Amino acid sequence: MSTTSPHRWLRWPTTGDGERPTPRLAFGADYNPEQWPREVWDEDVRLMRAAGVNIVSVAIFSWARLQPTADTWDFAWLDAILDLLHENGIAVDLATATASPPPWLTTAHPEILPVTSTGETVWPGARQHWRPTSPVFREHALRLVRTMAERYADHPALTAWHVSNELGCHNIYDYSDDAAGAFRTWLRNRYPTLDDLNDAWGTAFWSQRYSAWDQILPPRLAGSHPNPTQQLDFKRFSSDALKDYLRAERDILRDLTPDVPVTTNFMVMGETKGMDYADWAQEIDFVSNDHYVLPGVQAHDELSFSANLTGHIAGGLPWFLMEHSTSAVNWQPVNVAKKPGELVRDSLTHVAHGADAVCFFQWRQSRAGAEKYHSGMVPHAGEDSVLHRAVRDLGATLESLAPVAGSHQLPARTAILFDWDSWWASELDSHPHNALRYRQEALDWYSAFLAAGVRVDVVPAHTDLSGYDLVVAPVLHVVPGGLGTRLDEFVQGGGHLVVTYFSGIVDENDHIHLGGYPGAFSELLGIRVEEFAPLLDGESVLIDDGADGVEGTLWSEPITVTDPAVQTLAWYKTGEHGGRPAITRRPVGSGSATYVSTRLGTGLTPVLRRLLDDAGVPSELPAPVRGDVELAVRATDDDEFWFLVNRTAHQVDVDELSGEVLIGTRAGATGPVVLAPRGVAVLRRPRTGA
Ligand code: GAL
Repeated sequence: MSTTSPHRWLRWPTTGDGERPTPRLAFGADYNPEQWPREVWDEDVRLMRAAGVNIVSVAIFSWARLQPTADTWDFAWLDAILDLLHENGIAVDLATATASPPPWLTTAHPEILPVTSTGETVWPGARQHWRPTSPVFREHALRLVRTMAERYADHPALTAWHVSNELGCHNIYDYSDDAAGAFRTWLRNRYPTLDDLNDAWGTAFWSQRYSAWDQILPPRLAGSHPNPTQQLDFKRFSSDALKDYLRAERDILRDLTPDVPVTTNFMVMGETKGMDYADWAQEIDFVSNDHYVLPGVQAHDELSFSANLTGHIAGGLPWFLMEHSTSAVNWQPVNVAKKPGELVRDSLTHVAHGADAVCFFQWRQSRAGAEKYHSGMVPHAGEDSVLHRAVRDLGATLESLAPVAGSHQLPARTAILFDWDSWWASELDSHPHNALRYRQEALDWYSAFLAAGVRVDVVPAHTDLSGYDLVVAPVLHVVPGGLGTRLDEFVQGGGHLVVTYFSGIVDENDHIHLGGYPGAFSELLGIRVEEFAPLLDGESVLIDDGADGVEGTLWSEPITVTDPAVQTLAWYKTGEHGGRPAITRRPVGSGSATYVSTRLGTGLTPVLRRLLDDAGVPSELPAPVRGDVELAVRATDDDEFWFLVNRTAHQVDVDELSGEVLIGTRAGATGPVVLAPRGVAVLRRPRTGA
C-alpha cells in the first residue's frame, strides 16, 4: 500500500536579500524559445512579467538541439535563456530533455524504437519513440540527464526538475524483444516459481502451460483473446517499466542536486489509463498533472473529477497543474475554442482541488510544426488579443489567491474509490460486455454528487476510508483479500458502502471469486447472482425507484436476496428480470452495504440523493444553488477557502454564505455572492471543526 506524495514543493529562487519569497501560486507555461529567433525572447519575458508569469518549463523537447550529435553539445542557448529568465524573476522548471530522442540516435540505434503488438516499428518523425526498457536508450538518455544536472545544479533559476514529459504518452505499450526480456524479469519477481505463474495465469486453459521462463512473451497479436492474466500483468508491468525509468532519472537528479525537487507530469484525464499514478506518486517530490478538456456534456465534470483525483493521488497536498490549454487544442477531431469565462473557471477548478500552480501548454503559440493550431498564452494574434488579455486577467486573479497557496484539500464526508487494477481488468476482452467503461461509471457517480451539491473525494483504493460516512466503489472488479476486508471493516464500523455491477468478481490474478456474484461482496451485500444479464446496445430497462423511475442500460442482473434484512430500494420494472430487485441495501449495525446492479448514468442523481439521506450526509450549499454550483474546500489550520464554481452559463446568486470574498463579488456587505456565468468565487472563512 502506498500513501505518499508531495513532500517537497518548488524551491523558489531567493530574493536579493537572500530570503525565499512569500508563498504564492505558480503561473506559467511550457516555454520553447528554441522555436523562435533571439529577439522574440526579450519580447517573451516582457510579456511574461506583464502577465504575472513566475515559472516556465524549459527544454522539454530540446534533446536534438542540446546534443546535435553523439559527441557534441550546445548549451549556449539554454544558458542564455535561463539567465534571461532569472534576471526577470521567472523561475525555471527544467526538463531533463529526454522525452524525444534525436534523429542521430534513432538512426544509429533503431533498436530503441518501440514495437506494436502486431510487430510494427514505431518510427521517429513524431515524438516519444523510445522503449522504456531499452538499455541503449537508457544509456544515452541518462547521460543527458547527468549532463543537464551537472551543468545547471547551481543555476539560481532552477526551481524543480521535470523528468521527461508525460511518460507513457505515446509509448506505454511496447512489445519489443527488450520488453519481452524485462517482462520476464518482472514476472520472476512477482512469481517465485514458474508453477506459481502457471497457476496465476490459469495456463491449464487452451494448452498454455509454460515449461521455461523464456517461453513467455508480451501479449502480442494472437489468433484469439490472449490470456487475460497475461494481459493484466503486462499492463502492470508496462506501468512499472516506465516508473522504473522515472526512478532512474530521478536517482541521478537527487544524487547531483539533492535540494531540487523532482516531478514529472502525469496525465490524469479521460481514458488515459496505462500509468498507475496512485502508485507512481510516491516516486516524486510533488505531483504534477496535465489536463485537457474533453468535449461533451460532462466536459467540466470530467475536469473537476480529474483535478479531484489528482489531489488525492497527491495525498491532499498541493500539486502542480503543469499543462492545460488557454483555448483550443489541435488533437481532437474538431478543436473548439474556449467560451468566455472558461479559461478562468477551468484554471480555478484545478486550484479548488489543490493545484498551487496553473500552467499551460504553451507560452507562445507555435508558428510551425504539428501544434501550430494549439492555443498558447500568446496567440498568433499577438499581445493585443482577447485571449492574451484573458491570460493577464488570470495572472492577476491568481495573485489575489496567494493566501490559498500551501493549503490542503479539506476532506469531504463522501468518497468515490478509484482503482487502476479494476480499470484495467474490467475492460479486458472476452467479458460479458465490451462497452463497459470503468472511468465513465465513476464519472457518472461524480456528476451525480455535483448535481446533489455534495462534496466528494475521488480517492485511490489504498486510501484510509475510516473518516468517510459514504463510500461509492463503482465497478470495483478486482478485489484481493485485503481490499475486501478493508471494505467490510468500513461497513462494520458504521460506514455506508455502495458497490455497483461487475464489482467483487475477481481476485488479483483475475480468477473468479466462486459461489455466485458479486463474489467478494456477496455476503456483505446479502445477495447472490447466478448469471449476468448484460443489455444489448440500445436496449434499456425501466427501474422503479419508488419515485419517478429511472432507466438502466448496459447491464442488469437477476438478484436473489440471501439475507432477510436486505431491503430492496428499487426494482426492475421491465426486461427479462422485471419484478426482481435492482438496487438493494443491507443494514449492518449503523452502517450499510448497497448494491446497484445496472448502469444508471444520469439516473443516478435521485438514487444518490436517497443514499445520501440514508447516510445522513447533507449538502453544504444553500438549497437553491445545489447542482448549479460546485463547492470545493481547501484549508489551513486557521482558514477554509470555499471555492464556488458556477457550472451553468447563467448568473447564480449564492445566499447564506458568510466569509471574506477573495475572488468574485458580493452584493452589498452581507448579500449573496454573485457568480457570473461560468464564474468562480472564493471565500475565506474561519476553520471550523478542525
Ligand atoms: C501534451 C504534451 C505537450 C503538448 C500538449 C498539447 O500531451 O505534453 O507537449 O503536446 O499535449 O495539448
